[in-house]
Amino acid sequence: MLEQPRPHRTRYYAHRVGETLTNRFFKFFCSCFLGLLLLVGVVAFVLWLSLSPHRPRFHMESFSIPGINQAIGSQNTVVNFNISARNPNQNIGIYYNAMEGTVFFRDQVIGRTPLISTFYQPPKNTTWIYGMLTSGGVSSTGMQEMIRQFTAGSVDFRVELTAMIRFKVTTWHGKNHRMHVSCDVALGQNGQILERSKERRCSLYFS
Ligand SMILES: *[C@@H]1O[C@H](CO)[C@@H](O)[C@H](O)[C@H]1NC(C)=O
Ligand SMILES: *[C@@H]1O[C@H](CO)[C@@H](O)[C@H](O)[C@H]1NC(C)=O
Repeated sequence: MLEQPRPHRTRYYAHRVGETLTNRFFKFFCSCFLGLLLLVGVVAFVLWLSLSPHRPRFHMESFSIPGINQAIGSQNTVVNFNISARNPNQNIGIYYNAMEGTVFFRDQVIGRTPLISTFYQPPKNTTWIYGMLTSGGVSSTGMQEMIRQFTAGSVDFRVELTAMIRFKVTTWHGKNHRMHVSCDVALGQNGQILERSKERRCSLYFS
């Protein structure tokens, strides 16, 4: 009767040892796996940080309507603008597809022109986008408002640029995004951009 528990106990210890081994192996395996996962995560995060594209930046460099003081709001006055486009990325190039420029006075389009055709902007590059167009004039209510602003000292215009853009990371090409750039500009009575509007950053969104 006294002998009876022995085999039972041995089996019990053997079972315990086996369990600890499996446990240890399992823990080791788990920590290896978690470590690996963490490493992969960190690498992915660093890659993502270095590869996530920054939007291009646009600034209004110059804007003029030389004829505005002679023929305010009329047709056939020439509008010039020069906007800088900066690719701030270290390693990412940008493809621009067929950019178009539109000049607005309030919500009225006064002229529209194609700007650059397809071009590739390398990383850390600044390119000037120059546009010249002939105004189609404004409506009579628009004209009244323009005269009011002109008499007060400055006329507010808006230049919008639209283009399809694509980011390029080494050999990988991202998908196309429709980009809208909007630049507010105040024109003085001499037909030239006012100092306060110069170098102003344009707003940008994608659709
Ligand atoms: C646009 O502005 C830049 C920088 O001021 C200048 O170098 C460039 O000649 C201008 N382009 C035109 C067509 O005026
Ligand atoms: C910017 O890129 C354009 C187009 O590739 C190129 O013609 C121009 O020389 C570049 N400008 C600079 C400052 O590198």
